[in-house]
Order: sequence, then structure tokens, then C-alpha cells
Amino acid sequence: MPDIKAVTHVQNIRYDRKEEALYIIDQTLLPGEEKEIRLQTAEEMVEAIRSLRVRGAPAIGICAAYCMYVLAKSIRTEDRQMFLRRLSDYGLQLDAARPTAVNLGWAIREMMRTALEHVHDTRGQMLDALYEKAVEIHRDDIAKCTAISEHGLTLLKEGDGILTHCNAGPLATSRYGTALGPILLGTERGMHFRVFADETRPLLQGARLTSYELLRAGVDVTLICDSMASIVMKNGWVQACFVGCDRIAANGDTANKIGTSGVAILAKHYGIPVYVLGPTSTIDMDCPDGDHIPIEERDGEEIKTMWYERPMAPADVKCYDPAFDVTDHDLITAIVTEKGICRPPYKKSLAALFRDKA
Ligand code: MRU
Repeated sequence: MPDIKAVTHVQNIRYDRKEEALYIIDQTLLPGEEKEIRLQTAEEMVEAIRSLRVRGAPAIGICAAYCMYVLAKSIRTEDRQMFLRRLSDYGLQLDAARPTAVNLGWAIREMMRTALEHVHDTRGQMLDALYEKAVEIHRDDIAKCTAISEHGLTLLKEGDGILTHCNAGPLATSRYGTALGPILLGTERGMHFRVFADETRPLLQGARLTSYELLRAGVDVTLICDSMASIVMKNGWVQACFVGCDRIAANGDTANKIGTSGVAILAKHYGIPVYVLGPTSTIDMDCPDGDHIPIEERDGEEIKTMWYERPMAPADVKCYDPAFDVTDHDLITAIVTEKGICRPPYKKSLAALFRDKA
């Protein structure tokens, strides 16, 4: 029997008001161990974000908001300008931990804006406002993921096969997730899908996290190596590709986990639609196109030695390890946000999302 709540109600990020403590589930230990760790210092926070203990664009934004609150509490000065400078320095440190996902900088800016708005209040009032803002960012994400899931579900029908890459489920966000949201919501409503989860080299988010979440929820999931995406498409087993996003440029070019653009190119060949699902906080209207998205490069040891008992490549071989790639907008069938489904031309449809807000 599917048990969707077993994954949608996991608290991947939790602020304990009684203990005044911030906890995250350490995603690097999954699927073997579901263990919480506490984040107290800026160093621990930066390390947790950089080493993907907390990961997924919306989740690192939510986590950074609580981090800013915890760090604000640690600043001991009555001088407000000094307080703002120190908080801003912490924000810069957190933001630099991962450059591609725009949600991180967005959440930090929201927290800084709140601090500025309350600069003339008492320290207690300002800290309360920062806490409330972090909770609001978190709650908003739950609402956004639910709405994305509803919109995304309209693109699926009973029995569909879906290919997904990386992990855009509850662990990467809150509640339903983005790319996994329609699948979890549909399953909750009695629908059946067959999901193919790319293992997602080199950090294996698909193997370790997506297959873990879907299996736990009772969804029919089959794990494949990234190189097997083509054969499952050719076999006619995939009716749609659902992927998340880390930054969407104004023209619809989308950065997501390395390998996503390859999936989209294959899908085009086989005539399979590609849907990108994410909150509007992942859309960067100041970024004109994919060429302007900063792509995080990581240590080649992730390719050579991580996960292996003994090295699987010559120790001194050169490695190129970009964490993300950009899928060209013309490979994307639609972009699903909490405000609805955007279709090409994206310059127009994405801009309309923000115009409507004003
Ligand atoms: O490096 P990661 O694991 O943080 O990369 C995550 C992704 O690429 C996700 O697909 C994206 O952040 C969307 S999460 C809803």
C-alpha cells in the first residue's frame, strides 16, 4: 500500500523552538541512515551546504533562511550598523557555498531585507521578525510544492512511465517536492505510475534519494544508470520526463543537475515531452540566458574515488566535474511553477508570471 506521508512529512529541515536549535537530515548518509545533525556555526552551515548534507535548490534556500536567523542571534552588538554588516558577511559566506541554485541567494536577500526593515526595532523584535520570515519561506515552499504538484499532475495520466533525473522530491524541498510532486500526489489519489530514476552520477542523488523516497512511498520505481535513459525511452516505457531546476533564466534556459540536458536531448529524439518543475523563486529574471548561469565545478575525486572501496581511475588523471548543466529552452516542453504552467515562448510566459504578481 502506498504510504505517501512517510516521505511527504519527513522534516528534512527543522527549527526546534524549545531547544532553539536548527536540525537537518544529513542527506549524505541516506539511504543507509536517516540521521539529524544540528547546525550551530557559520562554518558548520557552509560545510553542510557545500558537501550536500542539505541539498536541492528550495531546501538550501529554506535552510539558509534558518541559518541567517541562528547567526543573527549569535551577533552580540548593540550597534545596528555593525549588526547588519556582520549578518551580511554571514550571508555572503552562505551564498558562496553553492553558486548555481538561485534560491540560496534569494532566501538570504529576503532575510537581509527583513533585518533592514526592523533595524530600528528592539533586538528581540528584530530577531522575532527574522524567525517569522524563515518560517514564512518554509511554509511558502510547502504551499508552492503543493501547487506545482497539482499543476504537474494535469500533465500525467494513469499508467504513465516517467523518467526523472537527480532528486527533486521532499528531501530537496518540503512536503511533495517539485518533479516528484505530481507523482506523489497522483499516487496519493490512487493513480499508478512507473518511474525510472536515473542514478545521477557522480553524487548518486537518484540512486540514494529518489529511489529511496519513491520506494518508501510505495511508488513503482526502477533505478537505471544514466547511460540507460536512451534504452528505456526507445522501449516506449517513458511518456514524460519530469525534472527539477536550480536556476531558470529569463529565456527559459534551465540549469539542473548535470546530465539533465542529455536527458532532454534524448527525449527530443524520441518525441517525449520534458517538463521542468520548480517554484518561481528559482526563476532569475535578471539572468538573460543559460550562458549567464554560474555553473558550480566540484572536486574530481567525486568521480574517481567517492563511493568506491579502491580508486576507479588513475590517481593523477584530469577530471572535469561540473555539478550542473543547462538545458536549452527549446528542449523544454513546459515549465511548471506554483502559479501555473508556462509554455514557449518563455521570454513572454515567464515575464507574465512576475507581471501578474505586481
Ligand atoms: O547538487 P544538488 O543535489 O543540490 O542538485 C539538485 C538538483 O539539481 C535538483 O534537481 C534541483 O535542485 C531541484 S530540487 C527541487
